[in-house]
Amino acid sequence: MAHRGLSATAPENTRAAFLRALDEGADAIELDVHLTRDDRVAVIHDRTLQRTTTGNGPVRSYSSAEIAMLDAGSWFGPEFSSERIPLLEDVLALSAGRCWINVELKSHFFAREVPEHYARRVVEVVKTSGMLDRVLFSSFDRSLVESLRAVEPAATTGVLYNWHWDLWRTPSAIAARSGASAFICSRTELTDRRLHDARAAGLSVAVYTVNDPEDALRQADRGVDVLISDAPHVILRALATR
Ligand code: G3P
Ligand code: MG
Repeated sequence: MAHRGLSATAPENTRAAFLRALDEGADAIELDVHLTRDDRVAVIHDRTLQRTTTGNGPVRSYSSAEIAMLDAGSWFGPEFSSERIPLLEDVLALSAGRCWINVELKSHFFAREVPEHYARRVVEVVKTSGMLDRVLFSSFDRSLVESLRAVEPAATTGVLYNWHWDLWRTPSAIAARSGASAFICSRTELTDRRLHDARAAGLSVAVYTVNDPEDALRQADRGVDVLISDAPHVILRALATR
């Protein structure tokens, strides 16, 4: 699964990064979303614009027309200056069912977002694109995972392990509470105990971020289902040697 697209060689969460992931044959693409002021679903990792674009301040404070004018590529390299912040529907159209899309809903704690409203907007976009059966929805925020399932019971959802809340909880308990079928965890947090618990509960297990080929083989040998990587081309080559 290409983490924010093929983000090792192109600016994260841009059309360029998604096209490279598709070209390299990634099985899935992970991307992050936030709502704009006019309730469109924008594909960007941070709550604010300044790290990866020429804009400033919270994504939620700008309309989709306003963010469409920002340069989302120059921070990575001058050759990417024409990259823009994509809308979710654009990425879904771009992938056109060629791979799974993992839509990670970033939390809107600070914006006092109503989880149901946010979840409904994201689900609407996915359903309008006809991609509900090719999307995994995920979030660190449990209220969002629960809202997604409430809005669309057929949605496939995953919980991201969040040590602030989950330190003493097992993956199976965390997922059961939210009705999720996937458990997503960082490399350092995916202990054998957590992995075995998740697998015994029938959950799909995804780990991030796996950029080292040897680590990829080790994770595959452990029984991890999904490797989330900035460099999926490197990982696919490593796995193909098996
Ligand atoms: O979904 C896995 C991973 O993307 C979670 O962390 O910060 O890269 O969105 P982050
Ligand atoms: Mg993410």
